[in-house]
Amino acid sequence: MPDDSVLDVCGGAGHLSRRLSDRARRFVVIDLTREVMDAGRRGAEDEGVENVEFVEGDAAAMPFEDGVFDVAVSRFAFHHLENPEAVTREMARVVRPGGHLAIIDMVDGGDRHNELERLRDPSHTNALPEEELVSLLRGAGTSIVARDERRQALPAKPWLERAHTTTEEASEQVLGALHEELGGGHATGLHAHEHDGHVNVAQQWVLLVGRKA
Ligand SMILES: C[S@@+](CC[C@H](N)C(=O)[O-])C[C@H]1O[C@@H](n2cnc3c(N)ncnc32)[C@H](O)[C@@H]1O
Repeated sequence: MPDDSVLDVCGGAGHLSRRLSDRARRFVVIDLTREVMDAGRRGAEDEGVENVEFVEGDAAAMPFEDGVFDVAVSRFAFHHLENPEAVTREMARVVRPGGHLAIIDMVDGGDRHNELERLRDPSHTNALPEEELVSLLRGAGTSIVARDERRQALPAKPWLERAHTTTEEASEQVLGALHEELGGGHATGLHAHEHDGHVNVAQQWVLLVGRKA
């Protein structure tokens, strides 16, 4: 809503907030990583976006009063969290009664999915099954009012290269597992398939929205 105050939890460079900046009055991005937020600040400045603020802090213990936001959203971050329950609880605490919490993330694809994601990027903790994300939102005192999903195919090589933290050896291990699956071997949970002669992976993304009682 145009007058809303929105908290972008683990918002990094604030891509979501910057993109949606004309949809609400104020966006606050909170993240642990200062360098990423500095890049976000510069990006917002270049884009002429003036209603996105950046705050350094831990999403599991946020420096905000109770009920000061209309919406708290977190995109592609829950699979990096050590304590998703504490973060969801904090999101619910800082949103007003009747406000909304939204989680957008990839979900656990089963089999070796999380193990291979961690090999690719050691900052990956766990992609959770959708039911656990739903439980987190319900446990934090919200009822689910909207849900959407998307199956996202990604060419494997660029997907591996984008994770700058990965080592050559780890990359080879992930590629090896994908090729094994393609050849009829063990399932990876990443649904390896061929497209235009390239190996692709497929992730399942969900959007869940909870309304706080
Ligand atoms: C994959 S990035 C996603 C960034 C952003 N949400 C987006 O969609 O572009 C995950 C972010 O979570 C942040 N993060 C991880 N744990 C955190 C925590 N406990 N508190 C705050 N930020 C955290 C990282 O610093 C990183 O910027």
